Amino acid sequence: MKGFDPDHFVNHETGQSANQGIALDIAAPNLKESEIVELVGRVAVVTGGASGIGRGMAEAFLEQGMKVVIGDVEPAALEKTVTELKAAGGDIVGAVCDVSNQDSVDAMAKSSLEAYGAVHVLCNNAGVAGEGGPTWKRSIEDWNWVMGVNLTGVLHGIRSFVPIMIEQGDEGHVVNTASIAGLLAGSGTYGVSKQACVALSEGLFSDFAQHAPKLGVSVLCPGWVKTRIIESERNRPEAPRQTQREEAPFGALMRKAVEDAIANGLEPRAVGDIVVDGIKARQFYLLTHPWENMIEHRMKNIIEKRDPIGTSPPGLQIPGLPEESKD
Ligand SMILES: NC(=O)c1ccc[n+]([C@@H]2O[C@H](COP(=O)([O-])OP(=O)(O)OC[C@H]3O[C@@H](n4cnc5c(N)ncnc54)[C@H](O)[C@@H]3O)[C@@H](O)[C@H]2O)c1
Repeated sequence: MKGFDPDHFVNHETGQSANQGIALDIAAPNLKESEIVELVGRVAVVTGGASGIGRGMAEAFLEQGMKVVIGDVEPAALEKTVTELKAAGGDIVGAVCDVSNQDSVDAMAKSSLEAYGAVHVLCNNAGVAGEGGPTWKRSIEDWNWVMGVNLTGVLHGIRSFVPIMIEQGDEGHVVNTASIAGLLAGSGTYGVSKQACVALSEGLFSDFAQHAPKLGVSVLCPGWVKTRIIESERNRPEAPRQTQREEAPFGALMRKAVEDAIANGLEPRAVGDIVVDGIKARQFYLLTHPWENMIEHRMKNIIEKRDPIGTSPPGLQIPGLPEESKD
């Protein structure tokens, strides 16, 4: 949990941490008969596994004695990560894969089966952050790219792998990486894609309960994590690239603040451990930071029919960001 200070989330009137008394209870399991008791020897597939949170998950799974397939659109980073994790003793293979393309994800499913003969855990984790700016000024290419990776990419993973997992007849688990942005008032391409990822995951939970009771699902909603997400442009498939940064409501100053928050965020490996615990406990919502106050604020805005102003409650600020970023 290095790097994250919950006391940043401070009530300026009382001087108290807003999170005092709120514990993130990852350990409280909601066990079902479909629980995966043992991860040793099972096979995990992680998209976006060459970097950041995906790599953190891969490391955590390998430590559990699992076999791991990582899929990623960036071949050089993929090769480097596979080489390093193999050198550390991991049973791991890589597959170049663009999650926004169903054929590419199908091919990764095929190569996963060729490598290990089964898939028990699927982590639809690959994701990108797009442009800033008012909704109508963000390019349609940006909307399509971000939704194509962050939402349709998750759907492609479900469509390729879940039938295989059902056919196997074993217990299995799907983890979809959304974001805390998927639980707060929506904003822009990223927020919309992550809200949709949460909704997709909630629907999958019901689908599994009705049609595939041996499968479980979690939606991972991280706060700041020390990764390369701010450099997502490196994976944008084609022009036009970022053109509107100066017009973004957050602007250059806010970009710097986000960069700093991410640089001081959780270590990806700590998120990997949260995911392992979440799978074992069959916990649906996986939160990495104690930011329940912000979720409650959003929900109260809805229930009390207030305007969706501010990501955090009055008098509080988003941890890691300056006050002016609230809206
Ligand atoms: N870092 C954070 O603070 C944070 C917070 C909340 C949610 N997330 C989410 O975590 C997930 C992982 O991101 P990260 O923070 O580790 O960033 P990252 O950039 O370090 O890793 C993302 C990985 O996804 C890969 N990728 C991008 N587009 C792809 C595509 N089309 N097909 C396959 N792979 C692709 C990248 O090459 C990269 O290896 C994302 O879904 C992101 O939205 C991150």
